[in-house]
Amino acid sequence: MKLTNIVTLLTLLLMAAPLASAEPSGPLPLRELADRRGFDIGASVVALPLREEPKYAEVLAREYNLLTVANSLKFSMVHPERDRYDFADADFIVNFGLQHGLRVRGHTLLWHKMEPGWLKNGQFTRDESIAILGDHIKTVVERYRGRIYAWDVVNEAIEDSGGWRDSTWFRAVGSDYVDLAFRMAHEADPDALLFYNDFGAEGMNAKSDAVYEMVRGMLERGVPIHGVGLQMHVQLGAAAWADDLARNIRRLNALGLEVQITEFDVRLPMPPPPDSYKSQANIHRKMLRACLDAPNCTAFITWGFTDKHSWIPRFFGGFGAALPFDEQYNPKPAYEAMSQELGREEVRFEVY
Ligand code: XIL
Repeated sequence: MKLTNIVTLLTLLLMAAPLASAEPSGPLPLRELADRRGFDIGASVVALPLREEPKYAEVLAREYNLLTVANSLKFSMVHPERDRYDFADADFIVNFGLQHGLRVRGHTLLWHKMEPGWLKNGQFTRDESIAILGDHIKTVVERYRGRIYAWDVVNEAIEDSGGWRDSTWFRAVGSDYVDLAFRMAHEADPDALLFYNDFGAEGMNAKSDAVYEMVRGMLERGVPIHGVGLQMHVQLGAAAWADDLARNIRRLNALGLEVQITEFDVRLPMPPPPDSYKSQANIHRKMLRACLDAPNCTAFITWGFTDKHSWIPRFFGGFGAALPFDEQYNPKPAYEAMSQELGREEVRFEVY
């Protein structure tokens, strides 16, 4: 081969190299598709992998335009001793989100789990408890004023039967604690959207009826509440009640409330049976569609995004693989379904 030809060949190879090594131009990331329709697609985030696994941070920033602080703002994490707050992990997650243009949700100010010993075992009077509540909410919410745009103020206050759940706050203050917490949060950040969040209240049942009645009462009393968070930790078979979800979202819309799907995951029995990834994808599709089709459903958030860091295997023995990315961060059929739904043209039927 002549020298000039070799030089030409080498030049061509060098020019082609960056092209060959670039990412294949595949479908758009979820966040891009969501942005185009003014919708929020999110995932909850834990501090350790965000600090230590570049891939975790990369996929999060690429695919999502919203994150929820999964654990680092829970009472025991952020307020471990009566006179000491620890914001290190929460700050890290919130700052990451804002630096990458994600909206940030705060989870959660009050919950019957993950309470520090000093609170759980303290024998406080009603007034002392209200003072503790006020200090906690003011300190945490004010710190993130203008940065955390929405809060799960109260988490899981209602039993499946529809009654009040027994908890530290319920015992010390009475059912008024819910109204009080929302009023305090509103005072600490008047611009933040305030949500009541629960599980098992997604479809039409005794629990969602009770949640509906509770928030209706709050609105009547002038309590600042803006939305209901539906957690949606579900299993195979959930596609059957997608219509019930739509009905529930509609009745909350009639009250003027937003809805967000706040903790979506679809746990599979392990090892996953044949076709279960397809059924899982179908549940993602139907539930996301129900949300997208409702004018008041403003965000669809999964509880984590990779099966590598999911709460399911630890909390539901024999189950796993609940999220849209596998343990190697490869997108699963559930991811494809979400991508297709977000990319779907909005069809509006006009009635003449
Ligand atoms: C879970 C976390 O994922 C776990 O890491 C933690 O140990 C316990 O809490 N409903 C909620 C979430 O509102 O806060 C829970 O998160 C899952 C159920």
